[in-house]
Amino acid sequence: MFRPDLVLIGFGNVARRFLRLLDERAEELRRDHSLEPRVVAIATARHGVARDVRGLDIARALDLVERGGSLASLDTTPDDNGPSSAPVAGVDVIRQAACAAGSTRPLVVVETTVLDVAAGQPAIDHVRAALSEGAHVITANKGPVAFAYAELEALARAAGRRFLFEGAVMDGIPIFNLVRETLPAVHISGFSGVVNSTTNFIITAMEGGQAFAEALAEMQAAGIAEADASLDVDGWDAAAKAAALANVLLGATITPREVDRTGIGRLTAEIVQEAVARGRRVKLVARGKRREAGVSVRVGVEEVPADHLFATLVGQQNALVLETDLLGEFSVVQLGGGLTQTAYALVADLVALARRG
Ligand SMILES: NC(=O)c1ccc[n+]([C@@H]2O[C@H](COP(=O)([O-])OP(=O)(O)OC[C@H]3O[C@@H](n4cnc5c(N)ncnc54)[C@H](OP(=O)(O)O)[C@@H]3O)[C@@H](O)[C@H]2O)c1
Repeated sequence: MFRPDLVLIGFGNVARRFLRLLDERAEELRRDHSLEPRVVAIATARHGVARDVRGLDIARALDLVERGGSLASLDTTPDDNGPSSAPVAGVDVIRQAACAAGSTRPLVVVETTVLDVAAGQPAIDHVRAALSEGAHVITANKGPVAFAYAELEALARAAGRRFLFEGAVMDGIPIFNLVRETLPAVHISGFSGVVNSTTNFIITAMEGGQAFAEALAEMQAAGIAEADASLDVDGWDAAAKAAALANVLLGATITPREVDRTGIGRLTAEIVQEAVARGRRVKLVARGKRREAGVSVRVGVEEVPADHLFATLVGQQNALVLETDLLGEFSVVQLGGGLTQTAYALVADLVALARRG
């Protein structure tokens, strides 16, 4: 039985759905996957910290945060001095959990803080601290894999731990685990994909005559677009995903800032409708390709023929095409996405850890 102690850094939408999913599938995870986790620490930015080496009361933690409260009332500091009122950094929470952890339970840090497209921080520091302290890491945050994959993977290998990030691209639809677990000895030479749901939704809405701002507002109201619209509209989210894919699948060492990037900010309903009239579709496409001189990675607006796979993607749908030597080209298509899918990616990563023991 794999009985990890989980340390949650970030307790927002994804992390809370993840805990509910663990609860909903608890029996199946125990019976079929020998997985029985408990949560020993939660760190947030504005909702305080909760630590208890005996395992936290998750129902209470969820209730407190969802009512806008603080986790402090659940906090048992290591020396039992009572709840901490001062903010505690995620890195310190990880170190304390590692010190307090018994030798029988593996420690897993679940990193779900917000994406920082400038430098991937503080998430990279959280992952570094976790691996250095002997914990495994699972994350839905694109930052660490997009900015520092090579370093973090090397750190994980040296420590005999794992750094898993299935949720970073296309929510819980398997990409990284698919390649890692099911494509032995296959060489990937490139990829192309529509990987940002918000921009695809806006483009599809404009094809139907809706104005750009109206479609964006709809996605923000649904909680799907990033609060900072430029992350989606200017192609930063797609660039972070492209960098993550290039770093992991093509052996690149690129950051989102080095991706050749244009967003959809200049598109209008007239432009996309005019393309449709010519039998084409406008898409925001991410591409990566191995070349003799290295790996090229770009995100940009492209016109594709109406019978192209990408042209068939409407609304929030995504697709990724992988170019390989032994299997030729194949695609993974995401017809529906969202919070549960992203939370599931963390569950899948946890099961992957359980399988290796
Ligand atoms: N939502 C999705 O469908 C989706 C899909 C794919 C990937 N992702 C990625 O998954 C991650 C989490 O997304 P989300 O929707 O759950 O975000 P969210 O609801 O905004 O939650 C972010 C959490 O991180 C905490 N936080 C921020 N900075 C922190 C710090 N320095 N130390 C400790 N905690 C910190 C926040 O604390 P407070 O609660 O106190 O603010 C909050 O609990 C992001 O990286 C996102 O890009 C999300």
